[in-house]
Amino acid sequence: MRIWKTLRSVRAGFPGGWEKYATGIDGENSPPFVQPENPDDRRSLIPAHGLPEYWYPALPDKAVGKAKPVALKLLNKRLVFFRGKDGKVAALDDSCPHRGAYLSWGNCFWHGYVSCPYHGATFDENGECVEFITEGPQSKMVGAKGMRARVFPTRTLKGVVFVWMGENAPAPIEEDVPPEFFDRESMVQTAWRYWDLNWMIALENTGDAHNMFYVHRNSFRMLRNRLGGRPRTPIGYRVEIVNNKSVKRLREGSGGANEAFYAGPDGKLPYQLYHPRVNGKWPKHRVRLLWAWFFDWMDGTKKRRSRFKNPSDWEGQRLPGMVRNNHHTHMYTRWGVPVDKDLTRVVYFFTSRPRNVFGRLYDRLTFNIGLNWMIHFNFSDQDYDAMRSCRYELPEYLSSTDNPVIGLRKLVTEHARGIRRTVDVLEETSAERAAREADEVLRAAQTGHRANGS
Ligand code: FES
Ligand SMILES: [Fe+2]
Repeated sequence: MRIWKTLRSVRAGFPGGWEKYATGIDGENSPPFVQPENPDDRRSLIPAHGLPEYWYPALPDKAVGKAKPVALKLLNKRLVFFRGKDGKVAALDDSCPHRGAYLSWGNCFWHGYVSCPYHGATFDENGECVEFITEGPQSKMVGAKGMRARVFPTRTLKGVVFVWMGENAPAPIEEDVPPEFFDRESMVQTAWRYWDLNWMIALENTGDAHNMFYVHRNSFRMLRNRLGGRPRTPIGYRVEIVNNKSVKRLREGSGGANEAFYAGPDGKLPYQLYHPRVNGKWPKHRVRLLWAWFFDWMDGTKKRRSRFKNPSDWEGQRLPGMVRNNHHTHMYTRWGVPVDKDLTRVVYFFTSRPRNVFGRLYDRLTFNIGLNWMIHFNFSDQDYDAMRSCRYELPEYLSSTDNPVIGLRKLVTEHARGIRRTVDVLEETSAERAAREADEVLRAAQTGHRANGS
């Protein structure tokens, strides 16, 4: 084998032959997120690092131990998590006000405090410097205003630590965190993973109505369903913005005619459609129908009594970056948390309502043995691979089936908390805009660059 490889490399002139860098040295990686410059293009107004004035899921509560602080980046900010006096997880800016070292590289020598690795500045959960080890107990650094670290308010719910990322006072957490986190019957199981793409591209995918039949055709989940979810249509869904919080696809109105567009005279949707220009059918084979009858029959026997009520502004895509689907037996939430402009931490909440201890056990088992993998990895990886090469900097040519994507961009740029409304930005002339930006830079320079809460 080795000899063969060596011979081949000699023949090709360099190891690997022509294929190795066929698409450049980063050819297989996700392209970086670059926004268009034209302010008339809504994509230029998307905050690349996410929407700060919201609560976000940060990390599992059990990930934060007693001896070592934990670092985590969200919305392009590096935070340090440790346990405060009351044992709850607290978060500070991961930057020591003394010389800027990472607090997360330090230690929790005493219960409730984190100490900087460099000179031992020691902070409590309120960001106060309570000791400065290398100067001893008489240190003037203790309690100094300039030594205060920025606090990020936290709240732990059902084993997940949520953090407020805003500059302003926190909004009520019930507005941002799904309702199941506040009711006693719900059990939330969580999965965490990373996608090498911008949070907004991830979120646009969640409303993308027409990839289901195509992208997921060979996912385990879809193999059992005759139509593979949403049917094909050239019309697309109309959408509605609810309470400035979510974009919902409307089934009514556009839904019926829309979904039945290709129905035959018998009212049934054909499984395969003929595409005359390529003289071929899609799907290419009928092999998936071999077992579809079984699942159709099984679904027919199930009572689809919903165990959840989803308030209407908690359906579809919801600010700051999640999608919510009511699957009756469970509630699905996928939350794209921006790490930086090119990386998204994808957090899944799989919520069920087991009736008793056996139900709990059953839900835990099915989640860990199969559902987690099937829904959050097998199915979602197909989306990831399909969408991650989308490039914002290129012009787009959209269809009416892209309505949900357009609706989402409108939601984010016009309705999100703490955002400058698009209309204001669009009405500004470019000269005014340049003047305002110059002014902002100047003001930032005057007020000092360290946000230390003083
Ligand atoms: S840098 Fe943190 S104590 Fe000096
Ligand atoms: Fe998809």
